[in-house]
Amino acid sequence: MFLFLEMCQTKKNRVISRVGSYLFRYKGLFCGTLLFACAMTALSVLAPSVIQQVIDQVLTRGIGNGNVLLHGVLLIASIFFFKEVLNCLRIRINNKLEQKVIFKLREDLHNKLLKLPINFYDRRKSGDISSRVIEDVQSVERAILDGTEQGVVAVLSLLGVSGMMFWQEPRLAALVFVPLPILSWMAIQYARVSKRNWRAVRDRSGELNSLLLEDIHGNRLIHSFGLVNREKTRFAKIARDLEILSLRAMYRWSIQGPGASFTSSLGILAVVGMGAYLLEEDPNFTTGQFFAFLLYANMFYEPIRQLVGINNLIAAGKASGERVLEILDAPIEVHDPPAPALFPDKSQEIKFSQVSFSYPERSAVVEQLSFTIPHGSTTALVGPTGAGKSTLANLLLRYYDVDSGSISIGRTPINHLALQDLRSNIGLVSQDPFLFDTTVRENLLLAQTGASEKDIRNALQAAHALKFVNLLPQGLDTLIGERGVRLSMGEKQRLTLARAILKSPPILILDEATASVDVETERQIQHTLHQLIKNRTTLIIAHRLSTIREADMIIFLDKGRIAEKGTHQELLLLNRSYANFCNLQESLT
Ligand SMILES: Nc1ncnc2c1ncn2[C@@H]1O[C@H](COP(=O)(O)OP(=O)(O)O)[C@@H](O)[C@H]1O
Ligand SMILES: [Mg+2]
Repeated sequence: MFLFLEMCQTKKNRVISRVGSYLFRYKGLFCGTLLFACAMTALSVLAPSVIQQVIDQVLTRGIGNGNVLLHGVLLIASIFFFKEVLNCLRIRINNKLEQKVIFKLREDLHNKLLKLPINFYDRRKSGDISSRVIEDVQSVERAILDGTEQGVVAVLSLLGVSGMMFWQEPRLAALVFVPLPILSWMAIQYARVSKRNWRAVRDRSGELNSLLLEDIHGNRLIHSFGLVNREKTRFAKIARDLEILSLRAMYRWSIQGPGASFTSSLGILAVVGMGAYLLEEDPNFTTGQFFAFLLYANMFYEPIRQLVGINNLIAAGKASGERVLEILDAPIEVHDPPAPALFPDKSQEIKFSQVSFSYPERSAVVEQLSFTIPHGSTTALVGPTGAGKSTLANLLLRYYDVDSGSISIGRTPINHLALQDLRSNIGLVSQDPFLFDTTVRENLLLAQTGASEKDIRNALQAAHALKFVNLLPQGLDTLIGERGVRLSMGEKQRLTLARAILKSPPILILDEATASVDVETERQIQHTLHQLIKNRTTLIIAHRLSTIREADMIIFLDKGRIAEKGTHQELLLLNRSYANFCNLQESLT
């Protein structure tokens, strides 16, 4: 009944129906677990009635007569035994269903996370996302599966037990119903507050997870800046908050659970009083019936207590469910076109026309920006940090979509290309090299599956990485650990460069690709870079003069606008920002 009330309420907020739909995907298992649960209930409802008959027969015919007691006890024992056999089967099917649903939900979440645009991650902490995929999925699934199963069982046993009671003695049966309105009122009140409490618990738990990840990743920084005490305090604060919020959610149950039990025991008390009175006054009312009735009254309140408990489970589950749905339903703002054009294979001229863009809730990063990178040529972007250089690379890769204006490759606007096609034709070596937690070889093979050993070594050689890779304990097969912690930044950058060389894409973006490489190594890589960008349409973002000087065109970007544009010589003659930048560079080296 409460479950139904709850379900009616939640029709609006979708959580139950959405997660519930995952249960229906496995109809066989779902029906199986319900079927076994119902069969169990039927046996439970039958038991008191059998007990009643045994008692009455023993009382009227005497214990020794025809082994009445022995047969009766054996019958009752076999009912109990089969009930538990069914229970064992039910638990197994239930577990299997549960694991299947959890797997499917996590898989869907993971797929969605892979599809979501970069800006989804800008706004969220990784620890919180992972706690949604791992913990919240488990909690919401448990709540809905147990909620449905126990709910169905509880409602069925309520109906069965009520039927039996009214059949036996309607006057007593009516008494049992008296506490029901109070119990319903309590359950509704509880559901209202409880979901809010559990949501706060889940959110804070996500925060704790984020902090933990931050402390693990930032471990070195914490030690080098002496932040250990600061982190201890931060951790203690969130953990303490979580403790308080969890206790608040649980304390609420400490009133609800016992309150409901007490209210229902008043009903049983009424049955005891009225039953004793009937036993005295009504000759048709037998002792067996009285015993059976006491058992039934208990059995009547048990499912009610269960339903109230499910209320708690569902309140917690709904809070988790909301957090899961926030990912599943997050809008994908960067879309694949319905009928993608083919990536232009002749001219890969890149054209930015009147491009304006701002990050959410920030002022414009670029405004009305237009420039063209002719096919096969190199354009260098120069300018102070924060000028918007990396943002232009992000826009070209469609990590974000422009607010207005357009970007095209050849004559095809990039939003007419399939995202996968666009990105696989652009090689990015970024200022923030990312390597997977696997071997050097696997990391390189990401660029070109099936590349030969020779290709891999050539690429490494070209990026001046072969020497240090050969010195690693297992050479190419050395695990480079989570985020490549065992490599220096410069080494990581050279590996990502080798990856780009192996990928050999028609369009290349080098975003401060050699920023962390020492001057000597960079000088050695120069030659390779020249080879790499030859005949490729290339966007180089760099702060070192050596990389920029040779570009076919240089754009000096300032506050999202083109301040100067031309070749190295032209801009030096202009003697403004770029010339200053060059003078500064030369005075530094
Ligand atoms: N993901 C982001 N969300 C919000 N603001 C951002 C984001 N990335 C960069 N910015 C802001 O946009 C501006 C340009 O950044 P960026 O393109 O990275 O500069 P550059 O590469 O020229 O140093 C900066 O003010 C920066 O703070
Ligand atoms: Mg940048």
